[in-house]
Formats: sequence, C-alpha cells, structure tokens
Amino acid sequence: PLSSADSSGEFLQCLAAGVPSQLVVTRGSSSFASVLASSVRNPRFLAPGTVRPLCVVTPTNASHVQAAVLCGRRHGVRLRVRSGGHDYEGLSYRSVRQEVFAVVDLAGLRSVRVNRRAATAWVDSGATVGEMYYAVAKADAGLAFPAGLCPTIGVGGHFSGGGIGMMMRKYGLSVDNVLDAMVVDANGRLLDKKAMGRDYFWALRGGGGESFGIVLSWKVRLVAVPRTVTVFNIQKTLAQGAVDAVTKWQTLAPAALPDELTIRVVVQNKQALFQSLYLGTCDQLLPVMGSRFPELGMTRADCREMSWLQSMVYINGGTSSTPVEVLLNRTTSLSVYTKNKSDYVKQAIPSASWEKIFPWFDGAAGAGLIILEPHGGRVGSIADGNTPYPHRSGVLYNIQYVAFWPTTTATPAVPDWIKNVHAFMEPFVTSNPRDAYVNYRDLDIGENAVAGGVTSYENGRVWGEKYFGAANFRRLALTKGKVDASDYFRNEQSIPPLVSTK
Ligand code: FDA
Repeated sequence: PLSSADSSGEFLQCLAAGVPSQLVVTRGSSSFASVLASSVRNPRFLAPGTVRPLCVVTPTNASHVQAAVLCGRRHGVRLRVRSGGHDYEGLSYRSVRQEVFAVVDLAGLRSVRVNRRAATAWVDSGATVGEMYYAVAKADAGLAFPAGLCPTIGVGGHFSGGGIGMMMRKYGLSVDNVLDAMVVDANGRLLDKKAMGRDYFWALRGGGGESFGIVLSWKVRLVAVPRTVTVFNIQKTLAQGAVDAVTKWQTLAPAALPDELTIRVVVQNKQALFQSLYLGTCDQLLPVMGSRFPELGMTRADCREMSWLQSMVYINGGTSSTPVEVLLNRTTSLSVYTKNKSDYVKQAIPSASWEKIFPWFDGAAGAGLIILEPHGGRVGSIADGNTPYPHRSGVLYNIQYVAFWPTTTATPAVPDWIKNVHAFMEPFVTSNPRDAYVNYRDLDIGENAVAGGVTSYENGRVWGEKYFGAANFRRLALTKGKVDASDYFRNEQSIPPLVSTK
C-alpha cells in the first residue's frame, strides 16, 4: 500500500541508513521552505494549500538516489524527481492531489564532463542548460549543444521531454543528440543504455519526466559551431507590417531559410519580435535576409556578431557585453505567476486571421504573449517514431502561450485570458489530436486516473496522444509496463503501464 501517513516515519528511518542526514531536509527543519523553493520557477506552486513533500532529499551520488527508491518502494512513499524545477505545472515538487511523497532534488549532481576529441559530454541531470553551455564552450569554443533558451532550465527535465531550441533546425532537439544515459529504475538498479535495453532508452529521450525512473546523467553528441555567430532582434508594429511579416514567416522560417538560420517570433503588445540566431557572419547573413525576407528590412546595423556562448546570453535578454558567467547563475526570479499552453501548426494561418489574432495580445493585465518556434530542417526530417517526440515532418512551428501576472496581485488563480485565446486558436492548429509539447506541460489537457492500483491507459490517452501521438504513446505505455508495471513512478501526467497481452 502506498502513501499511508504511518509509513512516512519508517521511510525516513530507512533513508537515514542510506543517505547522510544533512542531505535529507524534512518539513520540521528550518531550511525546509528555502530548500523546497530553491529552484522553483513558478510561485503559484508555493502558495498556501499546495500539497508539499514530506522531505527533500539532495543526493550527492548515485547510491543516495538508489537508497531513496528502495526505501520509497519498501515503505510505500512515492518520489518526485526535480532537476531544474522549471516544470510548468510544478509536478517535480508538488502534488495536485493529497498524497505523501518525497522529492529527490538533483541540484547537487551537476557536473559536465566534456570529451573534446570525441565531441561528446556526460552531463548530470542537475546541471542547468546554462551551466552545460558554459562548460562545453569553455572546453572548446567550436563546440555547442542544441537545447532551450532559458539558462536555468534543468537538464534532467528538459532532456526528458525533448528540448526545443535555436539550433534545432540545424541539429535537432536535445534528445536527438543523446547517446547514452544512466538511470535508476523502479528496482533501484543503476542502468546504462546497454543494460536498460532499446525501448527503455527510447522512452527516456522525450517520453516526459518522472515515468521511467530517475535519470542521473546523459551522454550527448556535441555539435560544431563557428567562432562567430550573428544574432538580431527586429520588432514590427501593426503599422509597420507585423501581420504580413508573420504570415510570410510561417512558411519561410521552417522551409525556405538555411538550416543555420533560426528566426522565432514573439507576439506581444500587438507587435511581433523576430529573434534570430545565425550560425555564420553578418556578411553571410545579409544577402540571405535581403533576398528571402526583405519584409523585415534587416540591415547591417541589426547584426550583432559574437561567440555562440555569448549568443546564449544575448538571446535570453543579455547584451553583447554581459559576462557569460551569468549562465552559471541558478537563482530564479519569483516575481511573476505564469501559466503556459502549447499548439502545433501545420497549415499556415491566413493574414486575415492574423489580423484577428494580434488584438488578443494587447498588453492588458492578465494577458500575455505567444512564442512561435519554427521546425523544419533537421528536427523535421527525423521519423516520428525515432524518439517519443512526434511533431516532425509537416510541422511548420510550435506555439507556446504564456500568461503572466505579478505576484503582487492577490491571487495565483489563472486569468481567463489564456483559456480564451487557446480556444480562439482551435481552427488554426492541429486537430485530432490537438498536439501539445510535453515540456510545456499543461494539466488542462488531461490528468491521469488510477484504476486497480495503476494509472489507466485508456484515460491517459486523452492527454498522452496529444503529447506523443497514438503510436508513440502506446509504445511508451508498453515500455512502462515492462520497466515499472506496478506504476511506482507516477504523477498527474506520467505514462500508464500497459502490459501486453500478446
Ligand atoms: P523539473 O525539475 O521541474 O522537472 C520537469 C519534469 O521532469 C518533472 O515531471 C520531473 O519529475 C521530471 N524530471 C526532472 N528531472 C528528472 C530526471 N533526472 N529523471 C527523470 N525525470 C525527471 N523547453 C524547451 O524545450 N525549450 C525552451 O526554450 C524552454 N524554455 C523555458 C523557459 C522557462 C522560463 C521555463 C520555465 C521552461 C522552459 N522550457 C523550455 C520548458 C522546460 O523544458 C521544461 O519545463 C523542463 O521539463 C524543465 O526541466 P527541469 O529539470 O528544469 O524541470
């Protein structure tokens, strides 16, 4: 029986035998609140009434993680694993339902070991992508890695769900570049790719966090970048032709630009911001922009040439001279509440519809923005079943909806705006299923139901097929059935175990 309050004392006693006491912070401890909040990105899930863990375990080696799993199994206490704490629904450190659980926080396991000659690295899950970028580029400025934009995202959760970034058109998602992994499974065993087998390794590369065990580290293929890259940001108001530029961008950015060039769009305050990374120089970029996308009116004055590492700082709101060491800062701001949702677009939205979409982003209180991330290139050329991430061929771009409102407002309740704009967008995005990206986690699309002690597959299909497509979701569930049939690693959107009857 899981989650009985009586067993929590025994669980803690068991932990004491395998994990040094200073690495286990319980609710009674004076540091509990600060340890729990340490990597939280969305203060909505620190609000009073949130279902919090019994304790936070902060392992410094694999044996501590193994001990936590074995104690959890033995005494019926589930674990939630946290790497960077950026989960949009806070599932790495809070439960939606009442339950007794513990958090394994991997922030103490964050080394990045680069093999320059082989152009590979072993990266621990507790590293942030910023720490990874820094370590890789410092080892060799000609090497880099394709992953997300916000430097404080944790490698553990990010790689578990895919990894969209500014180099995916050239090099694919983060998971397309994962070569090996070390995972602690539901039996407390530490397994590498060879020991875990093909389906298990497949599932870890994008099947969503938590479901298959605790991934401690990842071996990745590093990618080549030139010594000089170019970035630019160009903003267009409605009067300056924002609607026409976005309309054209939809088919241009994923298909008719070189893979070395990624232009993403942020629509906010009735304006479109075109944010770009080009793996080359301004001299090389200017003729491409002039001939393919003259509507942006880009000139040499828009170019910022810098190292790839500096570009990761710049794209996240820094400047050409911000020290790259900001990428090592793990402190997150807790000043805004957020709510996120996602969509995919396969057919370009007509300009007349964009005319109606822009007014949703008027900067009013409670309203937010959308980010459009172009696919195509390498990310679009990999087969749908190659990894659990199915949004490949035919996808023009991903839409991320972001609502944010200040924590100075009285309530963390989500403003209606985001549900309303998401409903409005329905005719323009994929349907049956209406696809979504698991790393932009959204519990509105469905939550697990438990039947007979395990999560129901049928019920999980409601949200799971949106994230993974029907075939990948089924393969994930069958894999879960093989590696964790009793459904120990469970949260509100974990993969349900499906035991094959064939
Ligand atoms: P967190 O620790 O909260 O974990 C997320 C999920 O994975 C949880 O279910 C957790 O239990 C599980 N998990 C964590 N570590 C695990 C491990 N070691 N083994 C198994 N399961 C584990 N995405 C993107 O693709 N591109 C982007 O550019 C961005 N940008 C971005 C900006 C900001 C500000 C935020 C808040 C988020 C993003 N994201 C993103 C989304 C991000 O990729 C997603 O939230 C990741 O899951 C975050 O990983 P963390 O380790 O930080 O989260």
